Amino acid sequence: MLNIIIFGAPGCGKGTQSVLIIEKFGLKHFSTGELLRKEIEAKTALGMEADKYISKGNLVPDEMIIDVITNAVQQLDADCKGIIFDGFPRTVKQAEELEKLMNGLGKPTTVLIDLQVSNRELISRLLTRGKTSGRSDDNLETIKKRLDVYATKTTPVNEYYQSLNKYAAIDGLGTVEEVFERIEAKLR
Ligand code: AP5
Ligand code: MG
Repeated sequence: MLNIIIFGAPGCGKGTQSVLIIEKFGLKHFSTGELLRKEIEAKTALGMEADKYISKGNLVPDEMIIDVITNAVQQLDADCKGIIFDGFPRTVKQAEELEKLMNGLGKPTTVLIDLQVSNRELISRLLTRGKTSGRSDDNLETIKKRLDVYATKTTPVNEYYQSLNKYAAIDGLGTVEEVFERIEAKLR
């Protein structure tokens, strides 16, 4: 199985590149952000609770997200070729839980791909998207908060995967196709 973690700051291109990776490698996509936005749209209890955090640019509590991922992974078809985790793990606690879960199922993670993009470019991409996305977190104030939270709470996940020897840094600047070519070369 090819179990990839697509990682990086808000707006680095995790969702965009996931679509291309899935097409090429036939993987299943788990985006915790998208799962939560669906819950918000459906106005479920989980969605209403999650929105309190998301709209302020904060992370939702680890327990909430670990439950969501555990359920999703356990419902996978037996013939699944692999998974892309997009937006998860976002804390070292989540990473430890993911490793435990996947190792326990005999489906270990393969690699974390760290898409590196400057803050200036991230802000520009997210502000552009904010004009049409309808996302409660695509405004300048919340974007800045998301970048702060990424720097303090999420970047330690990089070191954790470096220590497991499952880490690849990829330059996330350039066209969508250029970035994908770099990822594909690394995965092959
Ligand atoms: P999440 O949905 O994961 O959002 P995010 O990490 O902030 O990232 P985005 O989805 O905004 O960006 P992306 O990296 O996917 O980039 P994209 O491809 O869209 O999480 C949202 C919130 O949910 C979190 O803040 C948190 O509250 C909560 N949450 C989610 N997971 C959680 C977890 N595990 N634990 C706790 N809380 C969690 O691209 C961005 C834009 O740039 C697009 O418009 C795209 O078209 C454009 N673009 C992409 N590539 C390029 C390129 N190469 N050149 C130019 N433009 C490009
Ligand atoms: Mg995304």
